[in-house]
Amino acid sequence: MANEIIIGSDEVKDWETLMFLYSSALKKMNTKIEILREEFIAVQNYNPIEHITSRLKTPQSIMRKLKREGHEPNLQSMQTYLNDIAGVRIVCSFTSDIYKVADMISDQNDIKVLIIKDYIENPKPNGYKSYHMIVTIPIYLSGGPVETKVEIQIRTIAMDFWASLEHKIYYKFEGNAPDYIKDELSECAKMINALDERMLSLNEAVKKLDGKGQEI
Ligand code: GTP
Ligand code: MG
Repeated sequence: MANEIIIGSDEVKDWETLMFLYSSALKKMNTKIEILREEFIAVQNYNPIEHITSRLKTPQSIMRKLKREGHEPNLQSMQTYLNDIAGVRIVCSFTSDIYKVADMISDQNDIKVLIIKDYIENPKPNGYKSYHMIVTIPIYLSGGPVETKVEIQIRTIAMDFWASLEHKIYYKFEGNAPDYIKDELSECAKMINALDERMLSLNEAVKKLDGKGQEI
C-alpha cells in the first residue's frame, strides 16, 4: 500500500510531517483571521468576529472517519478524502458578517477556495445552518510550499448555540433521537432564524441613529 503522498509538488511520507502541516495551517489561518479582526476594529471601529476556535482532528477520529467512509487508513486517503483534519470555526454576531468574513478570507491571494457549502442559504433538513469553506493554504517546508487543507465554518452566535446542542443530542442518541426531541430542535432552529433576523434589523436600525435617537 502506498504510504507516500504527493501534495502539490511535495512529498509527505510520514504521519508526523502530515500532522505538522495541518497544525501549521491552523496556526497560519488563526493568525490571518486575528489580523482581519484587529484591522477591522482599528479601521472600521467594528468587530464582525465574536470568537474563533480551532481544532486538529485526533488520530482516532481520523481513522474512524476513513473506516466509516470505506477508505484505506493511509496518508494518501487522509489527504484525499478528509477535508476537516484542520478545522477553524468563526462565530459572528450577525448573518451579514458571515459573508463579509468569508469574502475577506477568500480574497487573500495565497488562499484557494476548493469547496463552499452554504447551509445558511440552504439549511440541512434538521435545521443546521452554517457557512462552510474548504480552503488550502501554503505551508513552506524546506522542500517548498505544500498546499494544506483547512475547513472553515462560519456561523452566528445563535447558529452556534443551536449546533452545539444538536451535536450533543445527535451523539447521545447515535443519530436516532426520539421524534419529539427532533421536532423540538427543529422548532428551536426556527426561533434561532427569527432571532438572527430580528437582531440584524435591530442593529441596522440602531446604526441609522445617533446617541440621541436622531437619524444620522
Ligand atoms: P463531514 O460531515 O465532516 O463528513 O463532512 P461533509 O462532507 O458532510 O461536510 P459538511 O459540510 O456537511 O459537514 C462538515 C462539518 O459541519 C461536520 O463535521 C460538523 O462539524 C458540521 N455539521 C454538518 N452538519 C451538521 C449538523 O447537522 N449538526 C451539527 N451540529 N453540525 C453539523
Ligand atoms: Mg456531514
